[in-house]
Amino acid sequence: IGPLILAVLFTLSGCGIFAGTDYTGRVSFDRPLPIPPLQEGTVDDQGRREFTLTAREGSSQLVNGMTTPTWGFNGDYLGPTLRAAPGERVRVNVTNELGEATSVHWHGMHLPAAMDGGPHQEVQPGGTWQPEWEINQPPATLWYHPHPHEATEKHVYRGLAGLFLIDEPTQHLPSEYGIDDIPLIVQDKRFTETGELVFDHSSAVGTLGESILANGIEGAYLDATTEKVRLRLLNASTARILTFAFEDEREFAQIATDGGLMEAPNSTRQLTLSPGERAEIVVELTPGEEVNLQSHPTPGYLLGAGSGLSDSFDILQIRAADRLSPSPALPAELSDIDWLRASDAVRQRPMRLSNRSINGSEMDMSRIDEVVTAGSTEIWTVSAADGYPHNFHIHDVQFHVLDIDGEPPGPHLRGWKDTILLEPHKEHRLIMRFSNYADPDVPYMYHCHLLWHEDEGMMGQFVVVDEGQPPGSPSGSHHH
Ligand code: C2O
Ligand code: CU
Repeated sequence: IGPLILAVLFTLSGCGIFAGTDYTGRVSFDRPLPIPPLQEGTVDDQGRREFTLTAREGSSQLVNGMTTPTWGFNGDYLGPTLRAAPGERVRVNVTNELGEATSVHWHGMHLPAAMDGGPHQEVQPGGTWQPEWEINQPPATLWYHPHPHEATEKHVYRGLAGLFLIDEPTQHLPSEYGIDDIPLIVQDKRFTETGELVFDHSSAVGTLGESILANGIEGAYLDATTEKVRLRLLNASTARILTFAFEDEREFAQIATDGGLMEAPNSTRQLTLSPGERAEIVVELTPGEEVNLQSHPTPGYLLGAGSGLSDSFDILQIRAADRLSPSPALPAELSDIDWLRASDAVRQRPMRLSNRSINGSEMDMSRIDEVVTAGSTEIWTVSAADGYPHNFHIHDVQFHVLDIDGEPPGPHLRGWKDTILLEPHKEHRLIMRFSNYADPDVPYMYHCHLLWHEDEGMMGQFVVVDEGQPPGSPSGSHHH
């Protein structure tokens, strides 16, 4: 149990009575929010949209005035926003210019396992990889990040991550990229005095930072020019659970979960996202105002308590112009969701997360843990059984949350999800359909998305097979 036990004790109490937790990590907002460059790719004569991502080393001013060695895709830190439409065929030219193997996983994407970019599709230093697939799901805010065997935390923490938007034109939502449709990648970081990133596994969840970055910088402000601003929130932290709220506790509308638009806007004052989760929100502004987006302590998950770190942070200051251009009214109905029915499930699987393992086994590249039949609907019952914070992510599918210990899920979970924060000791019934892409030899992953837990072995593998087909044998070594 080693590393998990070495951990500083966690306080899973719901109230913020611990010294330090009421403190807000205040920053001066002194740099404009960087907007990751939009890469729309080039369309070839077969109608295939082609993107390019090169992982490389660089250096960045994550905190003003301090230089930090970082990694990035096509740049020094983070990566471009890729954008494609439902139904399009896409191809990505991935090149690895790092000194070690990496991979690029398309988090939230429904695609063949051989294109998934997990630990079985590592790209060696100097190597390239060209996955190709058809976008076969509705508009959504997805993301990409490395997934190398036992090294995901390090690669993401150093800066390798970006958004992948599945998008189609709409008049009903703010949708001008970087103007009123704003990508917001939020991560925590810790630095040495000379600016190097600190890795520290002294907490039970791996590295926890003291600074919060928005699109790669601390202290960002956004000049808003429209009445409504849509923020595509991604918690790309390695371990930190974030609860987004505005400093004045104003209401805002959540319009999307991980896998796409909700049926109707969910009006709320705060929204919790664990590592890997996304949400889209729309906030309304009045001319001339300044409002701060913050992260507040998450009841039940006071990560900082016991380690002396804060759980409150400034993230972004939104500065509204004195004259704002009009925005469309938010539609009452956003999308049609075809809810999966428990009665259609042909199989239930327990998933018990505890002590670096799932159902008692640590990740083994050469072992298939679960065999799923293409076309079938299943219910996975997921629980965190060791008292530590965990979440759960499944590759290839989007799921619905049926219930949590028999209770209906909170309104922020009512939509397509691929990652969910686990409430300690409760049973989360997730329902999903494995609609196609049978391949007995190449597994998909499911795991805790607290990346150090994932690296430590809290991950398993499933293959999707055609009815009656036996599973193959995945290679325990890496494919090149
Ligand atoms: Cu975002 Cu298997 O990960
Ligand atoms: Cu975990």
